[in-house]
Amino acid sequence: MTSRILNSFQFNLFQQILAMEGLDLTENIREVFELRIQRFAIRHRLRLDQLPYLLKEDETLRIALAESLIIHESYFYREYHHFNAMIHHILPKRATCPARPISILSAGCASGEEAYSIRICILEALPHLNPYIEITGMDRSEQMIHAARTGHYSIYALREIPDHLVEKYFIRETSDLFSPKPDIRKGINFFQSDLLKESLNKKAYDIIFCRNVMMYLTTGAREKLKCNFESSLKPGGRGVSF
Ligand SMILES: C[S@@+](CC[C@H](N)C(=O)[O-])C[C@H]1O[C@@H](n2cnc3c(N)ncnc32)[C@H](O)[C@@H]1O
Repeated sequence: MTSRILNSFQFNLFQQILAMEGLDLTENIREVFELRIQRFAIRHRLRLDQLPYLLKEDETLRIALAESLIIHESYFYREYHHFNAMIHHILPKRATCPARPISILSAGCASGEEAYSIRICILEALPHLNPYIEITGMDRSEQMIHAARTGHYSIYALREIPDHLVEKYFIRETSDLFSPKPDIRKGINFFQSDLLKESLNKKAYDIIFCRNVMMYLTTGAREKLKCNFESSLKPGGRGVSF
């Protein structure tokens, strides 16, 4: 039998409290969650047995714990088939003449790789549409939004992009650090927003990407997020990977 950091009662309490932030602490990676909760308690000099009661009352502390449990991993050209669908099937149908702005949302954008990938794909496949494309990245994490705006990426984050595109669209800052060139950054805005707590503007987006976000959420939170997205899509707009 493996020794647990939290007993079942305690783990259950954490599950209930983090569900208030929409997070689903699934049993199948319980050990990972327990370790992270323990580290969080040590970092904040709090007793593990007191933590649930403090979290119940203190939203800031709860959000901080939720932040430390979510994985913010992202990389350029991740699951490329979604970008492929955008450039070959979705965008050509959205383009009108005379052209009107086309708004794309990267919901749960982490450190910005998805938003910048969208821009690169459009520049490569549909350059004539590029001036009309506005991209917004949103994430609940202040730290991630700061990283997205700053835009410094390790070579590991670029592993899926063909070399000639790295050459074309990135500035090499050091041997392992790259940043997107100014023409990629133009027309991309990043905002901190908890998509479960704040409503999006109605009929604001032609396309919404929400990838690798829902898997951390409770069923209720997923439904809420989907409703939020559906009302913010323009007529005929498309969601990618809800
Ligand atoms: C694993 S990353 C995925 C990044 C990117 N979409 C991708 O597929 O590469 C998940 C991101 O979703 C964000 N997230 C989770 N719940 C959110 C919410 N309610 N509102 C906004 N962002 C959220 C997290 O902060 C995290 O940065």
